[in-house]
Amino acid sequence: MLRDVVSPLTYHYQTWQQTVLELEALSKTYKTGDQALTNVSFSVPAGQVVGLIGPSGAGKSSLIRCINRLVEPSSGRIYLGETELTKLSGRALRQARRRIGMIFQEYALVERLTVMENVLSGRLGYVSGWRSFLRRYPKTDIDQAFSLLERVGLGDHYNKRADELSGGQRQRVGIARALEQNPELLLADEPTASLDPKTSRQIMRLIQSVCREMNLPAIINIHDVVLAQNFADRIIGLQAGEVVFDGPPSALTHDVLTRIYGAEDWGQVQQNNESQDDEALFSNAKVLERS
Ligand SMILES: Nc1ncnc2c1ncn2[C@@H]1O[C@H](COP(=O)(O)OP(=O)(O)O)[C@@H](O)[C@H]1O
Ligand SMILES: [Mg+2]
Repeated sequence: MLRDVVSPLTYHYQTWQQTVLELEALSKTYKTGDQALTNVSFSVPAGQVVGLIGPSGAGKSSLIRCINRLVEPSSGRIYLGETELTKLSGRALRQARRRIGMIFQEYALVERLTVMENVLSGRLGYVSGWRSFLRRYPKTDIDQAFSLLERVGLGDHYNKRADELSGGQRQRVGIARALEQNPELLLADEPTASLDPKTSRQIMRLIQSVCREMNLPAIINIHDVVLAQNFADRIIGLQAGEVVFDGPPSALTHDVLTRIYGAEDWGQVQQNNESQDDEALFSNAKVLERS
């Protein structure tokens, strides 16, 4: 079995403390019969940035959605701190979701609202952002939103409409909005998939540095292996719904990548990276060197 040959499958994080998220034997089978996740177990400590990699259809989005319960797990348990998320429903579930910040591939901003209004909508939880239009916010929320906008490099843009911004700027708003929730955990589903390579690196670097500053753990779905390697503290590789690699970026050898992606697909990933630009090419060379 794959599990036996990939090394190191179990990576011990002595330097990391205080578990924030714990998944126990999480499985998901959709009504269609598609088995998206099989027995996924891992825990994420405070401040750790996890890059979740794997080919299309591996179950990355399903995993993220099970954690915030936008998808109902078929079995298994999920704990956020002391709270068992898998037991919650209704109001308790909505409250727990507010403890999880979400960053989306397509930003999910309200286009005709200002940057500031979009960030403030984070106070309401990401499911009902549009309602911010009708709300008033306390000064402390507004002060926090200003300082977050400053932090993500948009201090001067607070009053612009979201639809006036570039893709990279929109994602910065998305990050600020997630942080405005004061989340205990950050989830991101392909946050750079709509961005060019250079902007992608800037966004990943921003997520990585705010996570460090705030001791905030994150799970970032990312199909770009080189980006994941450069900006994650830990890589989890999914293949057909199973964890087939869990370890430091430095242990992601060519061999392991071929096992996660299959020889053909991984060849494709390499080609894409080589065509990006010099920096990507350079990091890609490092990947090959390590193997
Ligand atoms: N809403 C859904 N209904 C049925 N099957 C789904 C649904 N969403 C995803 N799947 C299936 O679950 C598997 C994992 O998909 P997904 O989590 O989207 O993977 P990834 O994000 O890694 O591309 C795939 O086989 C996909 O077809
Ligand atoms: Mg996906």
